Amino acid sequence: MTEEKLIRTNMETSRLNPDGELLCLGIESSCDETSAAIVDSNRNILSHIIYSQIPEHQKYGGVVPELAARAHILAIDEVIQKTLSTAGKTIDDIDVIAATAGPGLIGGVLVGWMAATGIAQSTNKPLVAVNHLEGHALVPRLSATSASGVVESVNVEFPYLLMLASGGHCQILLVCGVGKYELIGQTIDDSAGEAFDKVAKMLGLGYPGGPAVDKRAQMGNPQAFNLPRPLCDKPGCDFSFSGIKTAARTLLSKESEPYSDKLINDFCASFQSAVVDCIVNRLQHALCDTRVRNAAPKTLVVAGGVAKNSAIRAAMEKLASENDMIFAAPPMSLCTDNGAMIAWAGIENYLVGNIVTKPVAPCPRWPLTEL
Ligand code: KG4
Ligand code: ZN
Repeated sequence: MTEEKLIRTNMETSRLNPDGELLCLGIESSCDETSAAIVDSNRNILSHIIYSQIPEHQKYGGVVPELAARAHILAIDEVIQKTLSTAGKTIDDIDVIAATAGPGLIGGVLVGWMAATGIAQSTNKPLVAVNHLEGHALVPRLSATSASGVVESVNVEFPYLLMLASGGHCQILLVCGVGKYELIGQTIDDSAGEAFDKVAKMLGLGYPGGPAVDKRAQMGNPQAFNLPRPLCDKPGCDFSFSGIKTAARTLLSKESEPYSDKLINDFCASFQSAVVDCIVNRLQHALCDTRVRNAAPKTLVVAGGVAKNSAIRAAMEKLASENDMIFAAPPMSLCTDNGAMIAWAGIENYLVGNIVTKPVAPCPRWPLTEL
């Protein structure tokens, strides 16, 4: 990433609203959601529009990058205009523009990033190049709840231990501050979301698979099928999901099609329980690791699309309470890709002075550890 980072020395008070609130317009377009949101620095979401392309990709069983890029082009202007009008704001009211500049499907990233660059340049407003993963990582600081959502508001302070699980990534990170991430463990093959999507496809549950597997698993027996827990007998904090996927394919090849509802429910429950066991095992190692290094995070956080999973949320909440930690997860609507997380990351970055000062080339690969 070529963006230049500036540590701001003087507060740009002229850009603040009279009540001292910053308003950020955030734009997300890195995968199959065209989304924009206006968020203020007091953690309020003034408007949030998400245009999901899922129906366009469903018939192909996954996201088709070229179709996604074209759909973003068609949707972006309307999504931004609707975001402004829903909040009752004009572009003049906005203090900061933020957009995902990577990682992601580059055709889509370019659409949102060019829109944001155009708006920022034509209005002379500051622009923040947001790392999509940082959007997921920081959004629990905008809004977080307990696993069940009963505790409506949990304050997430640095440092926290983060399980970041999405369609493209699966990492355990120590989040020490804005732009300050220590990678503790990561998948050596598939991401957790990919595993959910692939197993769902084998079972004929369609795309995206995670929500369907989650729903079916609640009606099934987690002991019905014996699936492996890769790496759980090994030290360290890395994950491997491709072995679970291969074992799933082998087990299913012994069953006759069409699969019964009971088989699908039991299979989903067994697969999900294997994923949950792997996540808990790796997080236990990560907690020991952070304690050894005296980092002592007080909060255990899950984020990314897979954070919507009810069993993963419940298991992580239990793990947190066993370790005297607070558990926090974003509300369901802020787990999968969305513009509010980009707007919030825009505010957090702007407040530490991370604004774009020269042209930025969006990046399909942009690890959090390279911020
Ligand atoms: O974060 P996200 O919206 O996109 C990426 O940045 O990749 O995550 C999408 C992933 C998909 O793989 C989807 O199947 C998974 O999140 N997902 C779930 C659930 N809801 C979405 N996985 C498990 N359980 C869920 N309830
Ligand atoms: Zn994402």
